[in-house]
Amino acid sequence: SIVSDRYRTAYHFQPPKNWMNDPNGPMYYNGIYHLFFQHNPNGPQWGDIVWGHSVSTDLVNWIILEPAIEPDTPGDIKGCWSGSATILFGGQPVIMYTGGDVENHQVQNIALPKNLSDMYLREWTKAGNNPVLQPVGPGMNPGEFRDPTTGWIGPDGLWRIGIGAEVNGYSAALLYKSEDFLNWSRVDHPLYSSSASTMWECLDFFAVLPGSNGGLDLSAAIPKGAKHVLKFSEDQCDKYMIGVYDLERDAFVPDTVLDDRRLLPRIDYGNYYASKSFFDSKNRRRIIWGWTNESDSSADDIAKGWAGIYAIPRKIWLDRDGKQLLQWPVEEIDSLRRNEISYQGLDLEKGDLYEIKGVDTLQADVEIDFELTSIDDADSFDPSWLLDPEKHCREAGASVHGGIGPFGLVILASSDMEEHTVVHFRVYKSQKEYMILMCSDIRRSSLRQGLYTPAYGGFFEFDLEKERKISLRTLIDRSAVESFGGGGRVCIIARVYPVAIVDDGKAQMYAFNNGSTTVRVPHLRAWSMMTAQVNLKKG
Ligand code: FRU
Repeated sequence: SIVSDRYRTAYHFQPPKNWMNDPNGPMYYNGIYHLFFQHNPNGPQWGDIVWGHSVSTDLVNWIILEPAIEPDTPGDIKGCWSGSATILFGGQPVIMYTGGDVENHQVQNIALPKNLSDMYLREWTKAGNNPVLQPVGPGMNPGEFRDPTTGWIGPDGLWRIGIGAEVNGYSAALLYKSEDFLNWSRVDHPLYSSSASTMWECLDFFAVLPGSNGGLDLSAAIPKGAKHVLKFSEDQCDKYMIGVYDLERDAFVPDTVLDDRRLLPRIDYGNYYASKSFFDSKNRRRIIWGWTNESDSSADDIAKGWAGIYAIPRKIWLDRDGKQLLQWPVEEIDSLRRNEISYQGLDLEKGDLYEIKGVDTLQADVEIDFELTSIDDADSFDPSWLLDPEKHCREAGASVHGGIGPFGLVILASSDMEEHTVVHFRVYKSQKEYMILMCSDIRRSSLRQGLYTPAYGGFFEFDLEKERKISLRTLIDRSAVESFGGGGRVCIIARVYPVAIVDDGKAQMYAFNNGSTTVRVPHLRAWSMMTAQVNLKKG
């Protein structure tokens, strides 16, 4: 149908039809990228979950295969839930995933490729001793024990994995050890735990080296000075802590423990959940995949026949100061760029709205630098805003003048501006440094009713004394708007369903400034994005 096709993304990952949630077990093996996904083969809503399976050589074009793991044993009969892939020494890939058993308890199972000489690893065999882990032990809640991490080797040569669980009402990243990846025992203490949280879903644990955008293999020797990241999914978002992995105690020790979990930094401040990273041994980088749900209604999903996409795979690394993760779309995505347009030396004064012409405004990649002509007029920052950046984005919207900002992009706008999405920045001065707010405001993105349309937002610190340019990259893909602010310091993906796209198949795009300080655009480049081959072909 028209509705289905107009909102369907052209270069974001999604199955041919039906429901998709968490990315599972991403890996690079023998020249092929594998991506598994939580998938309902029978409809556009969550249920009957199997592991869908796609393969790619470039992370852009994908071939869909038969599901790799389906519920057919006592340990997964109620569903094959999220998990991870690990490549054991000698090049043996193995998957550990959560199954819902006959009693609806969550247990962990192992699956192995049936035939390693099949380059696509189409068929997977379940281990004879499944389930390999049960939710047993004092205080365990059998309904909250899931989503095992990729394994890593400890100094004693044993494999380890972390699993999210609720223990005595606390949230724990439980730690397990094994010699052979099949027989596991629980370590007497968790990798990390917190009494200030509900259960963490979709744990991810990985090593990063401050200032280096090369990735690290968690099972290789970790270089001196490396940090570790513990990522977890809670409160509808993906949060992380940076710390060290104390090998003696075999525990994660965060650099700072925040007393309010709303202050934790996020992988993405928009519609993004259940992310999972992997080490790409081909290009020695770490890549993270995350799920972006629909924000229309389930009736809309039934009409579309599909629900759920993944954000563009992103390279992820740690900033030089060791405090914040940075992300950037994998460079392979640039291969879809066509018909570059560029503008130079544009001055945006207060009230300016400058139309960007010549690109496909429904499928575009826009890179724009905003250079502040002065930083004297920054309004002062109130730290309480950090608790709820969305509230601040609602109050300080694109039409609210400030000292510096708002400035940014207006996209997917109808000719009468009744529908539009705004991605913008505002600059504040706090006691020590400058704080930048990035908003992705989708409140006016559509005239349709029944959509979830917040004003997403996130703050990042920025040294404006040293660098006056704030960069924005926005990928527009029909119903997906994915933005990277300050070189990937704040990332926000959102879903929008404008009527204009459906009615006339076109939309306008502008750069704007609504702050008193003039903002120079030394450089703006934009491209139309081609449609990728995403899961069209069955392998
Ligand atoms: C997160 C999640 C996981 C679970 C899976 C089930 O979105 O709830 O915790 O394994 O989805 O589909």
